Amino acid sequence: MRLDVVTIFPEYLEPLNVSLVGKARARGLLDVRVHDLRQWTHDRHNTVDDTPYGGGPGMVMKPEPWGEALDTIIASQEGDPVVVVPTPSGRPFDQATAVELAEKPWLIFTPARYEGIDRRVVDEYGERFEVRELSIGDYVLAGGEAPVLVMVEAVARLLPGVLGNAESHRDDSFAPGAMADLLEGPVYTKPPLWRGRGIPEVLLSGHHGRIARWRRDQAFLRTARYRPDLIERCDPAALDADDRKLLTELGWAERPDGRFGRTAEGMEE
Ligand SMILES: C[S@@+](CC[C@H](N)C(=O)[O-])C[C@H]1O[C@@H](n2cnc3c(N)ncnc32)[C@H](O)[C@@H]1O
Repeated sequence: MRLDVVTIFPEYLEPLNVSLVGKARARGLLDVRVHDLRQWTHDRHNTVDDTPYGGGPGMVMKPEPWGEALDTIIASQEGDPVVVVPTPSGRPFDQATAVELAEKPWLIFTPARYEGIDRRVVDEYGERFEVRELSIGDYVLAGGEAPVLVMVEAVARLLPGVLGNAESHRDDSFAPGAMADLLEGPVYTKPPLWRGRGIPEVLLSGHHGRIARWRRDQAFLRTARYRPDLIERCDPAALDADDRKLLTELGWAERPDGRFGRTAEGMEE
């Protein structure tokens, strides 16, 4: 997979040389190219921003450097990239989006600063390529570089051969499959006793069925506590009898459509 990042702070992307993404680059699984947007400016001050039309606070990134940057990068290789525009006003970036992006051969990220990029850039490239405007959460950061690091790591670990153990992301929170839309429960490793704290007995039992059930129960407990919205959205067909029993004990009630909702009792907790 090829990844291009255009930014006014190339050094902010240094973490892409480290750990999982760094190793994937070193092994040739990822071709990452970070570009300084200012190389596509032509004035003495390498200006990339200007005042907003219509007034208001802050500055807006000028379209010309972005246009030149994207034209040059896109012309450097055959094929159509997906242009990923980090913005708090985009669609939420989630695991399903990461899975979709991991299937694309080429992504170009456009992390902005100031109040964002002149809208015409998205409109221009949106007519010729797939453009994804994505938000990593309901908060506003000073720039899009940290969101790019987040998205690249989420995508890169899904690429074949990147994770040491290909099974590692199978049980992740939000991973597609039997545990879809549940948060992953607690995990433990050696030593068996640490500061007087042991390991749940079932994990030492060697009984795969009981361990799987325990993990699923823990996932439900955690999800009900931290992300009740995910339980409410849970596909009823994915719930077995034990799941239903546990949810009922936790104060959830089955609705006529088979989905679970919190009872007044459950909401007090
Ligand atoms: C200060 S923000 C611009 C905020 C803009 N005024 C708004 O409210 O949409 C500057 C840049 O940081 C990045 N950014 C900030 N928060 C983000 C978020 N939650 N998700 C993705 N990108 C974000 C985007 O690249 C954005 O253009």
